Amino acid sequence: MKRKAMIAPSILSANFANFGEDLRVLEEVGADWVHVDVMDGHFVPNLTFGPPVIKALRPHSRLPFDVHLMIEAPETWLDAYKDAGADRITFHIEACNHSHRYLARVRELGLASGITLNPQTPLCLIEYLLDQCDQVLLMSVNPGFGGQKFIEGVLPKISQLRKMIDERGLKTLIQVDGGISLQNAQRIFDAGADVLVMGSAFFSATDKKELVKRVQNL
Ligand code: DX5
Ligand code: ZN
Repeated sequence: MKRKAMIAPSILSANFANFGEDLRVLEEVGADWVHVDVMDGHFVPNLTFGPPVIKALRPHSRLPFDVHLMIEAPETWLDAYKDAGADRITFHIEACNHSHRYLARVRELGLASGITLNPQTPLCLIEYLLDQCDQVLLMSVNPGFGGQKFIEGVLPKISQLRKMIDERGLKTLIQVDGGISLQNAQRIFDAGADVLVMGSAFFSATDKKELVKRVQNL
């Protein structure tokens, strides 16, 4: 089956003093999803924003909000993020012991469910979770900050996950996050990714429309 690349710019790299306006740009230039990085200062060594900010942003875009929870005990927050306006919720497998239950809860809320793996976390951990996932997010940097360098060792992991999904005939999307730019996007797509997250590369691009088009045409 022919895959089509999607782009989810991360608003972590937006200007927080100009948040609404920076968010509107994503829709104007044809991005597929808005990637929303939630950090709690515990699971990752950085702090961003939570439900009230997402709720305030919600009216400024019609694009799906793809909420990436880099927080401890994500299960306590699922309903709050749905109420704030999330369309897709991804949480880290390293942050909880009952991922299966929480993935089911995300779907029960009517949202797309996703699990995230840090670069060192092996794929065998999601062997029995895959059919519960609308997306699997593979981190290609250690989460916490934008602007880090892509970890090349994640490329074979993407291919291996592609194989797992295709062999089972699942529609689970593979998302890759961290250090992605037009320099490595083709290789990441060729390895098997469906959705590329781009933070700094998107917000520093002078022609964002062209960047989006190039990713979507990979
Ligand atoms: C990292 C975040 C990423 C980040 C990507 O912890 O999850 O989504 O914003 O930013 P870049 O594309 O600059 O690596
Ligand atoms: Zn992210």
